[in-house]
Amino acid sequence: MCPRESGGLFKERNMSLPKKVKIVDVGPRDGLQNEKEIVPTEAKINLIHQLGEAGLSVIEAGSFVSPKWVPQMADSAEIMQKITRKDGVSYPVLTPNLKGFEGALAVGATEVAIFGAASESFSQKNINCSIDESLDRFKPVIEAAGKEKIAVRGYVSCVVGCPYEGDISPDQVADVAAKLYDMGCYEISLGDTVGVGTPGKVQKMVELVSRQVPMDKLAVHFHDTYGQALANIYAALEMGVSVVDSSVAGLGGCPYAKGASGNVATEDVVYMLDGLGIETGIDLEKLCEAGRYISHVIGRAPASKVSLAMAAK
Ligand code: HMG
Ligand code: MG
Repeated sequence: MCPRESGGLFKERNMSLPKKVKIVDVGPRDGLQNEKEIVPTEAKINLIHQLGEAGLSVIEAGSFVSPKWVPQMADSAEIMQKITRKDGVSYPVLTPNLKGFEGALAVGATEVAIFGAASESFSQKNINCSIDESLDRFKPVIEAAGKEKIAVRGYVSCVVGCPYEGDISPDQVADVAAKLYDMGCYEISLGDTVGVGTPGKVQKMVELVSRQVPMDKLAVHFHDTYGQALANIYAALEMGVSVVDSSVAGLGGCPYAKGASGNVATEDVVYMLDGLGIETGIDLEKLCEAGRYISHVIGRAPASKVSLAMAAK
């Protein structure tokens, strides 16, 4: 019998997939940071609440960055003060330096994220310093967070390609990821900022990074510019990754990665994981409602095929 018909091959391969996946919804931050029109604070708060109701356990709520650089995130402190926090849900915010960290601490953040890059040019454009300088700026953030018992997540951007430099070597990614992990980040999120990755490249990169950072400390963060994100996530799951970043309604992009589209839609990831029998704790119907709500606010249809298909039923 052809192995593809036996069912055995799929079952065997499926064994390597995780039983449970943690989804980090970055929609309120990565999703909305790139919107041209300022999204009302109230709508961002409603979105965060709806994501909590849908069962998300990690909701990235905002960014403590310069409002001159990213005006969309200027209301992050207000959002952190006004949201009703659900037990068991984490609401991380981005903090690129000590000033950002102090702002986050003042409004009761219990988790923050620092964000570096595997590309020198992207680091300069995004946070106005070299990779080494960025690591120096992150050190006091991690130290201060340690004292306050605040968990720190680390991002590495441009893990496959860079909008300014093109291909990025997986060794460079592994090097920055290892430095962030050794500094004390509890989890390293590998960002394909421009969404150029394909499954083979992703597996090679994850394989190299996992020689320096344990697989269970890795997350993947794929933008869907070239429509490869779901395939790339599957490829990463096969390698043993069990944390996936995504944005409700496929919102987003990075203001310093021109042309990059939003993150993979959370609805599409949840549908795929449900189909694979992988537990997420997320209610797909409620998630689609949250996606339709925020899409209505910004005047677009959700960039999620699953959401559109479910609405058409
Ligand atoms: P800088 O200009 O080098 O900073 O910016 P500076 O220390 O020289 O300060 C200049 C001014 O900024 C001063 O104000 C500071 O007070 C202020 P002034 O005296 O001119 O009025 N400032 C701040 N204000 C508020 N919060 C702060 C802060 N720090 C300084 N934390 C900086 C350096 C990092 C601040 C700037 O480059 C910046 O804000 N960049 C924003 C980058 C960003 O948010 N990018 C998008 C998120 S990353 C992303 O999307 C990728 C990711 O999704 C993963 C992936 O997809 O790959 C995570
Ligand atoms: Mg991103």
